[in-house]
Amino acid sequence: MHSVHVLFSPEFQLDYRNSQSQYDACVVIDVLRATSTIVTALANGAIEIVPVLNLEDTVEYSQKGYLTAGERGGVKPGGFALGNSPLEYSVDTVRGKKICLTTTNGTKALIYAKELSKNIYVASFLNASSTAEELRKYEKVAIVCAGNNGDISYEDTQLAGHIVECLTQDTQYMLSDSALISLKLWEHLKKPQFRGSHALKLMMLGFEKDVEYCSNVDIYDFVVQYDGEKLRLIDKS
Ligand code: MLT
Repeated sequence: MHSVHVLFSPEFQLDYRNSQSQYDACVVIDVLRATSTIVTALANGAIEIVPVLNLEDTVEYSQKGYLTAGERGGVKPGGFALGNSPLEYSVDTVRGKKICLTTTNGTKALIYAKELSKNIYVASFLNASSTAEELRKYEKVAIVCAGNNGDISYEDTQLAGHIVECLTQDTQYMLSDSALISLKLWEHLKKPQFRGSHALKLMMLGFEKDVEYCSNVDIYDFVVQYDGEKLRLIDKS
């Protein structure tokens, strides 16, 4: 029997080691903005992205020629080449480049996901349907929302619901309560509606265009896979 579970943030399941909750696949989502940025960077020709937890972890990658990228408090850390605005990751800036990325919640969720499954994907609204299609290959699926500093994210929950809806369209899945909550939210909204606390914070910081861009659905049809070290694009077309 297929099943799908949503973790509203990594902190919602810190006892994973005791809960035998290994999944056939998991997908990490941080709609605003880390996974939207990752998807955009790879779409625009970045070769690979290495997510790291701490600012200091970027140093060794910078010495190897990686562009250092990410945010703290929503803004680009001093000395970094790029922030966490997907709109910065243009073809001219990232084509042929390797990137080392650290963000507050997104990269944390990615690194946490390594404990849950060997098959890790990354999704945003930008590549939602192609990712859901890929996830159909697996029986036991977890959707890991980056959330908001341990709390639930309104935007991540919407995408989780959209993915659950795609998965359950013509196959029967057992839904956890969190998957059902996400699905019901998405069925109610039917399209992205970004007005959670982090969306409001980004708008106050002047990132309105990021919020608008990240709400585009399915502008890309590729899948992003994380092998535990690097994030890479897999073309499905
Ligand atoms: C994060 O990882 O916490 C976010 O992507 C923050 C942001 O919007 O830059």
